[in-house]
Amino acid sequence: MKVLIAFNQPAEETPENELDRISETAVENQVDAVMRSVRDLGYEPICLGVKNLEIDLEMIEQFRPDVVFNLCEGYRGSARHEMHVASIWELLGLPYTGNTPLTLGLAQDKVLSKQLFRALSVPTPDFQVFTEVEQKFELDFPVIAKPSREDASLGITATSVVNDEIGLRRAVADLLKRYRQPVLVESFIDGREFNVSLLGNQPARVVAVAEIQFTDLPADQPRITSYEAKWLPDHPAYRQTPSICPAKIDAALRSRLDETALQVYSALHGRDYGRVDMRVDHSGKVFVLEYNPNPDISADAGFARALHAAGIKYSQFVSTIIEQAIARKNNDSNPKNAASRSFSNL
Ligand SMILES: Nc1ncnc2c1ncn2[C@@H]1O[C@H](COP(=O)(O)OP(=O)(O)O)[C@@H](O)[C@H]1O
Ligand SMILES: [Mg+2]
Repeated sequence: MKVLIAFNQPAEETPENELDRISETAVENQVDAVMRSVRDLGYEPICLGVKNLEIDLEMIEQFRPDVVFNLCEGYRGSARHEMHVASIWELLGLPYTGNTPLTLGLAQDKVLSKQLFRALSVPTPDFQVFTEVEQKFELDFPVIAKPSREDASLGITATSVVNDEIGLRRAVADLLKRYRQPVLVESFIDGREFNVSLLGNQPARVVAVAEIQFTDLPADQPRITSYEAKWLPDHPAYRQTPSICPAKIDAALRSRLDETALQVYSALHGRDYGRVDMRVDHSGKVFVLEYNPNPDISADAGFARALHAAGIKYSQFVSTIIEQAIARKNNDSNPKNAASRSFSNL
């Protein structure tokens, strides 16, 4: 079986994208991990850094893959094309792994997904959207300002959490200028942070819950997973925000996190795998921050650790989602079989 491992070829480095590019290049570690498993499984892998559609299509034509392992998080440095790349596999009629263009698009627009969560009574922090700096502020401080259509903590630093009007206007102005998209301003949820990894289709299951620990952060730093904390190993915040998996939580909290994460997955039509980021305030109330339809699945990232905690081998995960993609394709022609097989055998 021929497996095309498709990923977003990171954009050329420029003075403007130098920092944000670090998270983009992390996709290469995911390619390595998936390629190793594909080989171990006895399949034939070929890696394609998607960057020039004409040339890429020629290469696909020559290779004639049986399935695409889709790791594309964007196209030519732009995350907004994440859904469009998945549409190419869809239109070519190639079975592909992971979330659909619809889910990728919904999840990428944090405002749209929050509106959907609200409509379905999935708890999410109160919010306001800023398209210009001088809009009336309608929430209570503290709040956090973030780009509404990025991920990987892009644009999220210690100065994103603000306690007054001056800080807010400054943060909004900076994000509008840098990311050229509406700014999402949310009530800041002070408390614990959890990542819930999900797997499967009808029924989906929670793989494991991880907690980000903020106890080592200096008292003057906001308790958040900033860009530095996620991507810059030499930055103190990186060491000071370890992720613990499985999280040390009681059964009642675990079941509330599981239930909420599965609600999110179902609301956004999640497919194959994903991760829900949540916070829990001091009164124990759960809030959904976002759904990640393309979580980092490299060997040392959170999703792989969740698999390990659940006793699922990484190569078993890779083989199951490949099988699922192929089964979907085979079932497509028969509407009675539209629902995918479950992951209950894992
Ligand atoms: N409303 C919020 N309250 C508290 N912390 C938040 C809130 N929104 C975001 N954060 C912090 O910022 C990080 C990144 O935000 P998130 O919404 O998950 O965006 P991204 O897509 O960049 O991961 C979170 O992991 C969390 O630490
Ligand atoms: Mg997140």
